Amino acid sequence: MQKNSWSANQHQSVRNTIRNRRTLKVLGDTNHPLEISPEICDTNRPLVLQAIADAGCAPFHYDRNHQSIAEPWRFHLLWHEQCRKIAANFFEWFDGDIKPNTKLPAMLSASGALIIVNWLPQEGLAKSEKSTLINEEHLAATAAAVQNLLLLLTAHGMGTYWSSGGQFRSEAMYNRMGISPVERLLAAVFVEFPETMNLDMERLPGKQRKNRTSVEKWLNVVEIE
Ligand SMILES: Cc1cc2nc3c(=O)[nH]c(=O)nc-3n(C[C@H](O)[C@H](O)[C@H](O)COP(=O)(O)O)c2cc1C
Repeated sequence: MQKNSWSANQHQSVRNTIRNRRTLKVLGDTNHPLEISPEICDTNRPLVLQAIADAGCAPFHYDRNHQSIAEPWRFHLLWHEQCRKIAANFFEWFDGDIKPNTKLPAMLSASGALIIVNWLPQEGLAKSEKSTLINEEHLAATAAAVQNLLLLLTAHGMGTYWSSGGQFRSEAMYNRMGISPVERLLAAVFVEFPETMNLDMERLPGKQRKNRTSVEKWLNVVEIE
């Protein structure tokens, strides 16, 4: 009895976390970037680090065995100060290689952290059905780790946004961050700390949010003839 009610609560909290997760694009003022206090940073940083470690409990099918590491993903973490540094130098560093309406500098001016999640395509395999499948599964495993991360941060009351990364995919940015070119960027996750969520900044929802449909539209309950 005790066990059942505990697991019902646990189930409900997982459901709530999944349903509460939503894209929150927070746009700071590039001329007056947000300055998050050391106290707020100190409170949130261990939580983000723990969320990254827990996100790495995602399933993965194949031993990627890159640098003797089995997981097919790599995480790169930029704290608030680093985000601000990139925001301040963005147009100088990425001159000529920028989408005219890029929101990256504004988002970097507001975020508590940015987590780049990369996956590692298999090297040295001739292109074949098998190698495509292995790579799809490395990518799928990394996406599972990203979703874990979003949910864990959501459960801490943090705002999250999974971005495709824009300039963060570029060679110039890889060089700045010291990332190996064998890694492919899957997600640039912007994180807003709970303590800054009541500040007056523009916040945009995900573009597809309103296009969601109900489960009957995309579930096929199979009956074999
Ligand atoms: C692989 C992936 C890449 C994404 N890249 C972007 C992006 O570059 N720009 C963007 O506005 N949203 C991006 N999103 C977020 C989606 O727009 C968002 O999830 C969608 O609009 C649904 O909104 P929700 O997350 O609030 O449910 C990405 C999501 C995924 C899964």
